[in-house]
Parts: sequence; C-alpha cells; structure tokens
Amino acid sequence: MMRLSQEKINEIRQSVDIVDVIGEYLPLEKSGRNYKTICPFHDDKHPSLSISQDKQIYKCFVCGAGGNVYGFLMKYLNISFMEAVKMIADRANIDLSEYDIEVVKPQSNQKFQSLYDMHKEATRLYSYYLHTKLGLEAKTYLIKRHFNDDIIKEFQIGYAPMESILYQSFSKLGFSNIDMVKSGLVLENDYYSDRFNDRIMFPLFDVNGSVIGFSGRIYKPTQTSAKYVNSPESDIFIKGDILYHYHRCREAVKQAGFVYLLEGFMDVIAMYKAGIENTMALMGTALTSGHIRMLRRLTHNIYLCLDGDKAGLAAMSKASQLLLDAGFNVSIIVLPDNHDPDEIYELQGESGLKAILQKTYKPIEFMMDYEYVDTNNYDDRKQYMEKMCEHISKLNDDVDKDYYSRMLSQKSGFSFEIIQQKVSGIAQPQVAYVEKKKTIKYEDKYQKAEHDLLFYMMNSREVALKYEAKAGFMYDDDYRVIASYILDYYRHHSHLEVADLINRIHDEKIISKIIDISQSHLPLNYQSEAIDDYITTIGENAKKLKKKQLLEQFNYILDPYQKAQILNEILKLDEETKKE
Ligand code: UTP
Ligand code: MN
Repeated sequence: MMRLSQEKINEIRQSVDIVDVIGEYLPLEKSGRNYKTICPFHDDKHPSLSISQDKQIYKCFVCGAGGNVYGFLMKYLNISFMEAVKMIADRANIDLSEYDIEVVKPQSNQKFQSLYDMHKEATRLYSYYLHTKLGLEAKTYLIKRHFNDDIIKEFQIGYAPMESILYQSFSKLGFSNIDMVKSGLVLENDYYSDRFNDRIMFPLFDVNGSVIGFSGRIYKPTQTSAKYVNSPESDIFIKGDILYHYHRCREAVKQAGFVYLLEGFMDVIAMYKAGIENTMALMGTALTSGHIRMLRRLTHNIYLCLDGDKAGLAAMSKASQLLLDAGFNVSIIVLPDNHDPDEIYELQGESGLKAILQKTYKPIEFMMDYEYVDTNNYDDRKQYMEKMCEHISKLNDDVDKDYYSRMLSQKSGFSFEIIQQKVSGIAQPQVAYVEKKKTIKYEDKYQKAEHDLLFYMMNSREVALKYEAKAGFMYDDDYRVIASYILDYYRHHSHLEVADLINRIHDEKIISKIIDISQSHLPLNYQSEAIDDYITTIGENAKKLKKKQLLEQFNYILDPYQKAQILNEILKLDEETKKE
C-alpha cells in the first residue's frame, strides 16, 4: 500500500472545479470573475462568500472562512481531510484503492450508530410487513390513494403490525433495552413493546438520507386515535431540524431554481406523483431557525404552498415574514377551498394541480388580502391600514412601495398621501452590513512591505528565493510563518498554486491571510527594483529592531568592556545602514 503523496492530493484537487463542488451544496450567482453566495458558516443574509474559479479557492469576507475545495467539504460536511480527498477522488473517478487511507468517521455518527442501525432495521421490517398478509388492508388503503409500488419503494413506506416485531428483532440482534428505548421505537412499561402498532409507516430522514424517525398513519375507519403518530425526539431525531424530502430534492431544486415548501409529507408525495420533485414539507410544525439554516444551503427562492385552510393561511403569513426577514425571495400559492396539494391532485389530476401552482403572489399581495377586514368599522380599517404600512415599509423597491401604497389606499379608504407619509416614517432597522472590501490597515510601512513581498513570492519562485537569500526574516509573526510555507513549497515546485499551498496548513487564521494576500490588488508584473526595495525596507526594520535591542542592553549592562563591545556593534549597524 502506498501513502498518498502531496502531489497526488494536489492532482485530485485539480481534477475538479471548486465552483461545481460548492455549487452542489449552495446556490451560486456569478459576479464578475467570481461566484458568490450566502456564507453557510455564519448567520447572514447577504452573499459574502466569494469563490474564485481562477484560484480555486473560496473566502467569506465577513467571517473570514476560506480555503480550497477540501477545506470547504471538511467544514461544510464536518468531515476529515482524508474523507474530503476521498470524496473528490470518487467524484473524479480517480482510483485510490492502491493507497493506504485511513478514514476516521466523525465521532457523532459513531456515538449514535446503534440508533441509526435500529432505524435502518425498522425500515426494512416495516417494508417487508406491508407486502405480507398482515399488511394487506394497509396496502389496499395506499392503493386507493394512488400509491403504486414505485412510490412505496421510493419513499420506503411500510407497515407496522400489531405485534412488537421491532422489539423481538432488536433483541435478537443484540441491541440493549436502554438503546431501544432511546431510539423511540420501543416503549418501556411493565414490559417492552413497539411504539407503533397497526399503522402505515413513513420513514423520516436526516440531511444525509439516514432514517432517524417515523410517522405512522391510521388507515381503517375503526381506528380513532391520532391520524399520525410521530417518533419522539431523540439524540438523532430533532424535530426542528427536519424537513421531509430535503435530502432528495437537491437536484430538482437546482434545476427549477426554487423549492415548494408544503405542509405535509402526503403533499410531497402527491407532487411527486405529478412529476414535481423540488418540494419539501414542514410536517405540520412552524418554521424554525434550523429550517431556515437548512433552506439557506439549498436555495434563496421559496414557494410557500401550505394548506388552503385557516391554519394553513395563518402559517403562511408567519412563515413568509420569517423567510423575508431572513433574506429569502418568497412567493405564495393560495390553494382553493381549504384544500392541500394531495387533495387537489386527487380531484383535478396532474394538470389541475400544475395549473393551480402557476398562480403565485408576492407576500405583500398575500398579506393585503389575508389581513383584509371587510367592515365599516373605522378602527378596524385603520388598524388594517397601519399594519399594512408596516409591511409596505419593508419593501426594498421604491416602485413597489408606491404601487402597493396606492393599492392600500383603495382597499382601506385612507388617502394615498397619509399612507405614503406613514410608510416613509417607519424607520427600518439598520442593517449591520457593510460590504467590507477590506482595505487592510497596516501598522507601518514595514508590515506593508512584508505583505506585498509575500504576494510577489506567491507569484514567483525567483522572488521567494531572493527573499530567502537576502532577508530571510519577517517581523510580523503570521507573515513569517507564511513566508516559510512558501519557501517550503518551492522546494518541490517551480510554480505555486495557492489552493495547493493551503493543503498542508491547518491553522484557519493563516489560511485566511494567505487567501487575502493572494487576492491583493497589486500589479502582477513587477520591477526587480521594487522587490529589492521591499527587501531593503524589511532589512531596515530588522536593523532598527536590533539597534533598539542593543541600546537596551547598553543601558542595562555595567561591565565597561561589554559596554564597549555593544557600542561597537551599534556603530557597525549605523554604518551599514548609511551605506545602503
Ligand atoms: P395534515 O392533517 O394536513 O395531513 O397534517 P395530510 O398531509 O393532509 O395527510 P392526509 O392526506 O390526511 O393523510 C400535515 C402534517 O401534520 C402532521 C403530519 O406530519 C402531517 O404530514 N400531523 C398531522 C401530525 O403530526 N399529527 C396529526 O395527527 C396530524
Ligand atoms: Mn391531505
């Protein structure tokens, strides 16, 4: 078995484009020579993460996160360096079987491995039982709701029989009773039994596609308990972090450019039947900040399409505000007659559903109707008008503000002037966001010389060697470290790729500085005199510091002979400085 060399690691990196890889996880927009997106590594709603295709690196100018494609995967997926290398190699069809690669799984996964294993086993067993005699009536129910075998397989739908089949199987497989209870699949009373009995089972998945919980539905008129029973929260099943179908919709969302956010998973399946896959479901809960973080990684464009009943409309009003405040583009679809997408599909088929999905509203239009009070009561109307002024004031576009102010005037009966006055009087919270195209503040001319010299060292081996021969020292601690990385790199290469240079560096602060330096706006063709100037300046600083040190010693030491020696050194330094 061979060790994976730096060269091979670089070769693997160079076989992919960082833009393609990051583009699989985040929605990218082209911006000049670079691509940009909202940074997933800090809370933000502005596109502060920039990806350079030329340099094959990414960098967030707000939180400073930056690196090459490996660094991105490590940070984003929380995986090790070797796992990231392996992922890219797989992607580029580079065979690594001859190499000795230790991939250590992240600890969190291992810790809960038994919980994942039990859910996997449960999914298998439930699927099996759906196709047995015990599951016949459940299957008949599904068929009545137009679930065919393909859909049952696709969504891994199953059946939990009356008996405690999971407890029996888990015991045989050697899982501990404690872990079984922890998984939520087994209940502990006077004896152990399965949580789910006689229900149709829908597995719930995490972002990686592992089953982490279930939702079980009743299917017989004689069943009177809750329509759905869900797994309780556990170490791996966290309700606020679940969006049904999230792990399966990425490709479709990328193609469509947006995602439909629905209320129930039955609606996701109905849309799937109609050939629409850029969907996900909240599963009846309110939108959480966890959901918002997940959505951010997927797309900035959300089509809210919750149920058309009272609860659904109220939830849309709340969710659209949250999404707007978080910087998403929101469109709203209002479903007729209290229906949900599944009912519309059943009643009107694929074409009927698709026609209804065509009609979208801006959130402000939706709110204008949703909040509308059709009454002659003056106070109610005034309250409506004031509430809507709040919403209008948040619009970014002046044309929109004007247009909807006029519309509000018509709807509410208050004058356009007073509405306009109110709208412009509502102070908007200051956005704490300045597009910091960081102009670096240097402490002194010496630090600037070091910074600029590093830039030219990255671009030319000759410059790097000159620095090594003539100066060999930088005063700034980080710059000195970077300079030594650069020199080390040139021992094996004639040309420096920043994206490869940072492979061997683990300190995020240093990586961030390297990327900043490499992206400085300095002219690429330099005069060798300019380089000499930098080196002289740096050398001057070294001498200045040396002199300061000697003077301190001179004042401190009492022995006349030593004093004379130090004075001699100081004079020599002065003379050298004069000569230059
Ligand atoms: P709905 O009541 O809208 O269910 O609840 P649905 O999607 O229309 O399902 P069908 O068509 O009746 O089979 C929406 C979501 O709320 C959660 C479920 O996750 C469901 O997907 N819910 C609903 C529960 O958790 N428990 C319930 O008793 C009902
Ligand atoms: Mn339904």
